[in-house]
Amino acid sequence: MTGRALREAFHREYLTFFEQAERTRRWNVFTDIDWGRLAGHDPDPGLVLCAETFCGVEMYLPDYLRAHLDLMRGDYGRAWFAANWGYEEAKHSLVLREYLRRSGARSETQLHDYADAVLARRWEPPYGDGRRMTIYGALQELTTFVIYRKQRGWADRHGDPVLPEVYRLVARDEMAHSRFYLRMIRLHLAEDRAGTLADLAYVLRTFRMPAEDLLPDYDTRVEVMRAAGIDRSVFLTEVVLPLLRELGLTRHDLPRVPAQAATEIPGPPGLLTAAGSAG
Ligand SMILES: [Fe+2]
Ligand SMILES: [Fe+2]
Repeated sequence: MTGRALREAFHREYLTFFEQAERTRRWNVFTDIDWGRLAGHDPDPGLVLCAETFCGVEMYLPDYLRAHLDLMRGDYGRAWFAANWGYEEAKHSLVLREYLRRSGARSETQLHDYADAVLARRWEPPYGDGRRMTIYGALQELTTFVIYRKQRGWADRHGDPVLPEVYRLVARDEMAHSRFYLRMIRLHLAEDRAGTLADLAYVLRTFRMPAEDLLPDYDTRVEVMRAAGIDRSVFLTEVVLPLLRELGLTRHDLPRVPAQAATEIPGPPGLLTAAGSAG
């Protein structure tokens, strides 16, 4: 496939993604959550701290978008995907922020202070290459899906009146994002199998979740995040292996990565590593 043929294939995939999103996945922060149910509810502090943490990670959206658009310049399908993806991601931090505010867990002033502290730091993309960032995107979106699915179950067990629905809607978006990136990886594999496999191996070994260590009070958040239940083995069995399976690959298809880049599969995914050390 030439560069142009690849871009045309990306564009077709984007149209499919966008059509499906418009038909089946649109939701409204203000009308699709029954916020009135929060009245008289005393939110669980652990769930609140997690919601605040994820809200913070989602707030680096301008940095994520900038990186995406810079790398995808001249690529119509990928750039339009980024614009649409940015709209969807913008709702994620907003809906979590609304939960924190409407539940009374955080005041408006606290939320503005938090936004200032979060946005005072800048997220830098871990890879300077579109194909690696696509692989990173597939992993990161699927990991986020798994984290939100677990939060949903946790919020359910605590009887939170709105958080399970919040996490259901957000997790459904994350899954759709991951599946789009997966289709991009398939196209890359068809175009340059050896190079794409090398990038897959490299990103798997160096993957970290974005931005978590940029957040204020990182150490406290790590403590609470242990309850999210994402450890290295969950990362391997619920993210890495399903992703490889969807691509028709096993770990044995991946080439070895030079020693300085390699730790072991999977790479150290930020908070996930800390969660893992809790057992
Ligand atoms: Fe998100
Ligand atoms: Fe996402």
